[in-house]
Formats: sequence, structure tokens, C-alpha cells
Amino acid sequence: MRENPLLKARKEHYAIGAFNVNTFDEMVAIADAAAQVKLPVMLMASMSSAKFFTPSVFADLVHTLDRSYPIDIIAHLDHCTDPELLLTCAREGFDSVMYDGSHTPYQDNVRVTGELAAQCHSLGVLIEGELGIIAGEEGPVKSKFSEFTDPDCAGDFIEKTGIDSLAVSIGNQHGFYKGEPKLQFELLEELCGICTAPLVLHGGTGIPGSDIARAIRMGICKVNVGTEIRAAYARGILDYAGQHADDADVRKFVTYLRSRIQETAGRYMECFLGKEDIQ
Ligand code: G3H
Ligand code: ZN
Repeated sequence: MRENPLLKARKEHYAIGAFNVNTFDEMVAIADAAAQVKLPVMLMASMSSAKFFTPSVFADLVHTLDRSYPIDIIAHLDHCTDPELLLTCAREGFDSVMYDGSHTPYQDNVRVTGELAAQCHSLGVLIEGELGIIAGEEGPVKSKFSEFTDPDCAGDFIEKTGIDSLAVSIGNQHGFYKGEPKLQFELLEELCGICTAPLVLHGGTGIPGSDIARAIRMGICKVNVGTEIRAAYARGILDYAGQHADDADVRKFVTYLRSRIQETAGRYMECFLGKEDIQ
């Protein structure tokens, strides 16, 4: 199995940025941003994005970029609730996958995540699990409320499933936050003390950089960002088309879009270094 890159991140107090992508241009823009800060990066397919590209094309595109850039670029499947699709992605070249059983009863989450972990590991693929409920919407997983990760179950969940990383619910939400995000740092501290597997922070969009950096210094090793990348892409299209309605030079258009996405991803990447002077 490939070495778990999150273990190195935890040891060296940085986080790997994991960005949801739906196009090759987002992949390139995010790879450029990661190369600038010299951090590894994960390009994530949602279930629908994996189907949109097809799993093997998504994985191949990421691997092509991985070979062309001086940093590690990792293909990851995000929030998968379908074991069959997850195993297809694992077989078709994804380096890492997430099974999201957070919406199922605890014992079912343990059983299914554990079975998938064993199969992924036999294929040399890393697997992330989730415990607790993250409010908001991400693909098929929706919730109006949060249920924080229970520290009494977290150690047991990691031990019984054999996962390589754990997504936690500590006040983080999917989508744009309504009001100020309030991360529960005391809970995070407790979880960091209990969990042997590296911890993952979802819902990166809108969390202040100083909070992200603090969470990383405490032990968060991977931060997921999706909504703000999609918003930067959509705003970029509208802005460019508004100013260049008659310009059919596609490469100029795409170069502009890539720069907008790179700038957005780059702002997050600076926080992923975990430094104290982030605002
Ligand atoms: O799994 C994906 C992320 O948690 C994305 O969250 O869209 O709020 O940045 P976000
Ligand atoms: Zn998420």
C-alpha cells in the first residue's frame, strides 16, 4: 500500500489541501497553487464527478499531473455512500477514497467502513471514514443539523475499521456558513489525544485562515474545500464573458479561469502551512 501522506503532514504540522474538482482546468489551477507553496494536494471527485469523468479517466488525469509537477498530487474519492462505486474507483486507480457512513447507525458504519477498508487496503488504496454528522449538503449527504463527533466512540471506530484517516464534526459545515463558523477546539483537542488515525476537517469554505491554521497545529492533517472553488469558477466565467463577449479565444478564457481558481485555492494553501501569522 502507498504510504499514508497524512502521517507525514501530521508529523510536520501542515495539512494536505483536498479540493473538489469537476473539470481538468480546476485540476491544473489547483496543482499550480499547490506547487507554489510546495505542498502535496488531493484532487477530489464527488460521486457525481467520478461518474461524470468516469473513474479511470479521473484517476489517469490526476496521475498525469502528478508526473508533471514537483509535488505529490493524489486522486481521492469524496463522501462516497455507494460501496460498489467506491470499489470501482479503488480498482480503477484512485489513490484514496472516503466511505461516508455518517448517516447510518454506528454499528453499521463500523461494519461497512471496516469491510471496505480491508478491501481497499488489499488494493493498496487508502480510506477515510466519518463519524458524527456535518451540517450542510455535500453530494448525496445532507443534514440540517450537526452532530459532533463523539470522543467516546472515535478510538473504537478507528480501531475496529482500520481506516487511514477520520473526518470529524467539530462545528464545521458544508457550503457557505450562515454566520461565523465556530470550531470546537476543546473537542478537537480531545479527539487529537484519542485518535491514532490522522484527522480531516471538511467544510473548509469560509473558515477563517487563523482557525484553519490553529486546527492544523492541533493535529488536523487534511482540509477539504469545495464550495469556494466552484464559486470562483462560476464568477470567473461570468466576469470574463461579461467583458469579452466577442472574444472566441478559448485558451485566453481558460487561462483567466485557471488564474481565478489558482488564486482562491492559493489563499487556502497558505493556511495549510499551519503558520501562526495567518489572518
Ligand atoms: O468534502 C468536501 C468538503 O467538505 C467541502 O466543503 O464545500 O464547504 O468547502 P465546502
Ligand atoms: Zn465534506
